[in-house]
Amino acid sequence: MIKVIIADNSDLMSKKAAQIFAERIKAKPNVILGLATGGTPVKMYKELIRMHKQEGLDFSKVKTFNLDEYLGLAPTHDQSYRYFMNTNLFDHINIKKENTNVLNGLAKNADEECKRYEEMIKKAGGIDIQLLGIGGNGHIAFNEPGSAKNSRTRVVSLTERTIQDNARFFKDISEVPTKALSMGNGTILEAREIVLIADKTSKADAISKSIEGPQTVDVPASFLQSHSKCTFVVDKDAASKLLKKSYEYVNV
Ligand code: PGA
Repeated sequence: MIKVIIADNSDLMSKKAAQIFAERIKAKPNVILGLATGGTPVKMYKELIRMHKQEGLDFSKVKTFNLDEYLGLAPTHDQSYRYFMNTNLFDHINIKKENTNVLNGLAKNADEECKRYEEMIKKAGGIDIQLLGIGGNGHIAFNEPGSAKNSRTRVVSLTERTIQDNARFFKDISEVPTKALSMGNGTILEAREIVLIADKTSKADAISKSIEGPQTVDVPASFLQSHSKCTFVVDKDAASKLLKKSYEYVNV
């Protein structure tokens, strides 16, 4: 069962999600976080930075694993997910850089890099709480429709829709990488807790299918229904196509 929290707007969605992560960090200072990139988590990361600066939220023992990285982009490329994480979060909190893990998009052997990443997650003891965004097509990380429930970290091809969705971050659509390294659905489902965030009406279809539709490879986020501790924190727009009215409303 997916727990759904509906916030009035995107700011409150971001605050609520940040609160959940802050609580887990306080409860377990050496918590292992799974982190995500994209437009959606930016305000949540800003709130975590504020909590660090104003309230002393301590990241000194926290370890992180990111979901994915573009194949072929250097960590210094301004659209790489390593660069995104540094500039949107890591550079502004007291996390040790060596405790932050992002797949290497320039690895000579990408398959080996994916294997290494899986082993690192295992060695660290597994992910305590995983943050997810969702694609308009229902993807989680870069597990596009058709990705098996038990898929592992691997090289994946991006769909045309995802390439178009992500083109806004690049000068030209032709610059958007067509391949990525991504944790698999199976890797994600092994996290002990999962929090998915979404805002905007462009996500409403994917949100309703994930929560209220059947579990299917056509909508990888629907596999989250089988997780024992998964919460969706969404704004009213992203929730606008949900049929059931029994979800928790929140005013943070
Ligand atoms: P977005 O991407 O946060 O930029 O909308 C989410 C995703 O594709 O997983």
